[in-house]
Amino acid sequence: MAFPQEAKHTEEQQLEPAVEQRSLLTVTNVERIFHVGGSPLHVLKGIRMELKESQLVMLRGRSGSGKTTLLNCLGGLDTPSKGEILFNGLPFHSMSDDGRTLVRRKDMGFIFQAFALMPLLSAWENVELSLRMAGVSRTLWKERVAHCLELVGLEKRMHHRPFELSGGEQQRVAIAKAIAHKPMLLLADEPTAELDSNMSAQIMAVFQNIIRTEQVSICMTTHDPTILEVADHVYEMVDGKFI
Ligand SMILES: Nc1ncnc2c1ncn2[C@@H]1O[C@H](COP(=O)(O)OP(=O)(O)OP(=O)(O)O)[C@@H](O)[C@H]1O
Ligand SMILES: [Mg+2]
Repeated sequence: MAFPQEAKHTEEQQLEPAVEQRSLLTVTNVERIFHVGGSPLHVLKGIRMELKESQLVMLRGRSGSGKTTLLNCLGGLDTPSKGEILFNGLPFHSMSDDGRTLVRRKDMGFIFQAFALMPLLSAWENVELSLRMAGVSRTLWKERVAHCLELVGLEKRMHHRPFELSGGEQQRVAIAKAIAHKPMLLLADEPTAELDSNMSAQIMAVFQNIIRTEQVSICMTTHDPTILEVADHVYEMVDGKFI
């Protein structure tokens, strides 16, 4: 059925956001040159990208194309040799190490390919540890840990240790751990690489869910063509450049 002309002015439509989503991360002409055995190795060659609030952006490219190097620069674990990275309005590329560390602890979460969980701690304790590291008040831990483990569907496995969990479940603990302190940006380096297609789809569903409910933005790398369709934008990297 066609909508009548007046439908443009219904109350519902007026409630839709008139402004565009805010930019959370702006990357301009970023280069990264490593020095190996006295000679320069040009790994990132003028990267430009943008990530807006509540977006899911993927970096795709062959092994060695520079995805992890870029992700490390975005998260302040490494600094670009040239170019600018603005995160939430802050000049990340030129801040001191201490300044970047503070921003990272408060406003960013990381997920790595190999889960990075503490092997002797339960799922619950792993998530709690990240709240402790972020300086979140102890009185808030219980509720937040329970909420995050529920978000990733692990309410029945809260007290299991990593070796008592499947690969997909371990990765979901890693996600709960990475979002516990309510970061604005989640950086994930091949979060589905160790998982079968069914578990990868579950992880992507969790990502879409937390973007909606936790207002987090996600930038992730992947080799997996089957999950690209859920991205808001895919950057294709070839030899240190986007094509
Ligand atoms: N610290 C470093 N010193 C010297 N060279 C490095 C360093 N880190 C990465 N490189 C080089 O930079 C290139 C890109 O590496 P990077 O890890 O970013 O690739 P990638 O796209 O993440 O690959 P993969 O898909 O295999 O994870 C590689 O050739 C690597 O050898
Ligand atoms: Mg990599």
